[in-house]
Amino acid sequence: MSTALSYDKIAVRLHWCIAILIIGLLAGGLLMGYIPNDNTSLRFAVYNWHKTLGLLVLVLTLFRLYWRLTHKPPAQVDGVKAWEEKIAGLVHAIFYGFMIVMPLVGWAIISTSRFPSRLMNMFPLPKLPMLSGAENAKQLHQVFEKTHEVLAYLAIALIVLHVGAAIKHQLGGKPILARMIPAMQVKTNKDEV
Ligand code: HEM
Ligand code: HEM
Repeated sequence: MSTALSYDKIAVRLHWCIAILIIGLLAGGLLMGYIPNDNTSLRFAVYNWHKTLGLLVLVLTLFRLYWRLTHKPPAQVDGVKAWEEKIAGLVHAIFYGFMIVMPLVGWAIISTSRFPSRLMNMFPLPKLPMLSGAENAKQLHQVFEKTHEVLAYLAIALIVLHVGAAIKHQLGGKPILARMIPAMQVKTNKDEV
């Protein structure tokens, strides 16, 4: 049985890198549509960086999933109710799904677009082979754009729930936040001595 109080270093670093990327991509994604159409070079650069960082989330998540399946999470905190644990587990599973599906849907958007995309604003980004040259590309493009948008709003709602639950538990004396911020765990332990 795991006796660790926090997630291991790699799991913690992956969580925070991906969390920052996703929050940035959600905010940036919603804002980038406001860049004036006539400022094509800025628009192109910002969209290309959105796509690049979005694909980075996909790569990091695949490694994170491998890490999660091969490393035990910390033992559950005392006082967390069974239903709370179940809902948290469900939200985490949805997040893993989101972190894979959202970049793939983004990739599908650009695979059905007339415009080219560049990784890091430099290297041509290949289109998904099953979508490039699709007959109904225009309709598919609209469906993927709508799906990307709806998933973004669902994710924002779940992130608010996720962060709220972590803070609520921490303030209520159940050190859940400390599981992802090991430095808080040390403080909690010292405080108890
Ligand atoms: C976890 C990763 C990602 C997140 C959180 C994210 C988030 C967002 C958000 C919030 C929007 C604005 C949606 C709207 O208002 O319609 C957006 C738009 C867009 N995203 Fe992403 N995105 C991600 C990954 C990607 C990837 C990997 C690509 C392409 C390779 C991509 C391509 C696009 C494009 C082309 C748009 C503009 C769509 C439009 O004009 O309607 N995204 N993204
Ligand atoms: C400021 C924002 C965030 C805070 C404060 C936060 C906090 C936490 C905490 C405390 C845990 C451990 C929960 C537990 O062990 O019961 C956790 C786990 C997790 N968080 Fe976050 N999180 C944040 C953002 C995000 C974002 C944006 C995502 C992705 C959409 C995310 C995905 C996950 C996942 C998948 C887990 C489960 C880890 C595992 O067991 O494999 N988090 N988070």
